[in-house]
Amino acid sequence: MNHIISAAQFSKEEVEKILFRAEEMEKSVKEGKVNKILENKIVAAMFFEPSTRTRLSFETAALKLGAQVIGAENAMENSSAYKGETIEDTTRMLSAYADVIVMRHPTAGTAEAASKVATKPIINAGDGANQHPSQGFLDLYTIKKEHGRLDNLNIGFGGDLLNSRTLRSLLPFLRFYSGNKFYFISPKELELPREFIAELHENNVNFEELRSLDEKIGELDVLYMTRVQKERFPDEASYDKVKNLFIFKKEHLNSLKENAIIMHPLPKINEIEIEVDSDKRAAYFRQAENGLYARMALLGYSLGL
Ligand code: CP
Repeated sequence: MNHIISAAQFSKEEVEKILFRAEEMEKSVKEGKVNKILENKIVAAMFFEPSTRTRLSFETAALKLGAQVIGAENAMENSSAYKGETIEDTTRMLSAYADVIVMRHPTAGTAEAASKVATKPIINAGDGANQHPSQGFLDLYTIKKEHGRLDNLNIGFGGDLLNSRTLRSLLPFLRFYSGNKFYFISPKELELPREFIAELHENNVNFEELRSLDEKIGELDVLYMTRVQKERFPDEASYDKVKNLFIFKKEHLNSLKENAIIMHPLPKINEIEIEVDSDKRAAYFRQAENGLYARMALLGYSLGL
C-alpha cells in the first residue's frame, strides 16, 4: 500500500506514471469504459474541514472505480472527534472498516500522524496550510493538458502564498522540469515564509518575488491564483486587512498572453473578477474537472493497483 501524504515523497518517475494513469482514467471515463479496479473495496472519506471539490471528486472517483464510500463530511462535529477522540484512535477504527482512508484536517501534520498508525493507505486531502498532494497532481495534469508540456514555462503564483497548501504541493512537482521560472506575487502580508525562500535559493530555483501582478503579467504562461485563506487567520480583523489586497481584474486579461492560462484551486471568493470566468484562458473549472481523473489514478496508486 502507498500512503499519499506530501508531494515531497514522490520521484519524477512516480509523478509521470500517475499523470499517465490519470490520462488513461480520463479516456476511460469519457468512453464509458472504466475498469472497476476498486470493486469490493471501501473508501472512507473523513473531512474534518469543509470541502466541495476534493471530497466529492474523491467520492466520485471511488464510485466510478467500483468502490463503496463511507465517511463523515463534517467530521469535527459528526464523528467522535467531537467527543475528544484522537486522530490515531479514529484512524485505527477506519483501518478496520475501510480499504483506503481519504482525510482532510485543519491541523498540519495530521495525515502523517494518521499514517503512523494506519494499516490501510492514508490519502492526505489537505492538512492545514501544509500539503494537498492530490491537488498538486491535478494541477500538474492540468498544466500538461493545457500547454502540452511541463518545462520552459513562466509560472506565477498570486495571492495568499503564506497559507497556500496547493502551492506547496504543486511547486515540488514543477521543480522536476527544466527551464521553468517561478514568480511569487503577493502583498508583503501574504508572502512566502523566509525559510521557504531560503530553501529555494539553496537549491538554485529560478524565481522572483513580486508585489504587483502588473510587473510580469505579460510573460506568464500560467497564473496560479489563490484565495486569501480566511480560516487560517487568528481573527476576522486580521483577515479583513488583507482580503482585498490582491485581485485579478478583467483589465488584466488585456496584458495576459493569448495562450496563457489562469488557474485556481477553488473555491474563489473575490480574488478573480467574475467577468474573467468566461474568458477561454480561465482554466479553473477545467482544472477542477481534472481532479476526478487525477484522484482515480491516486486511489489506484494508493492500493498498488
Ligand atoms: N481545491 C480544493 O481543495 O477545493 P475544496 O476545498 O472544495 O475541496
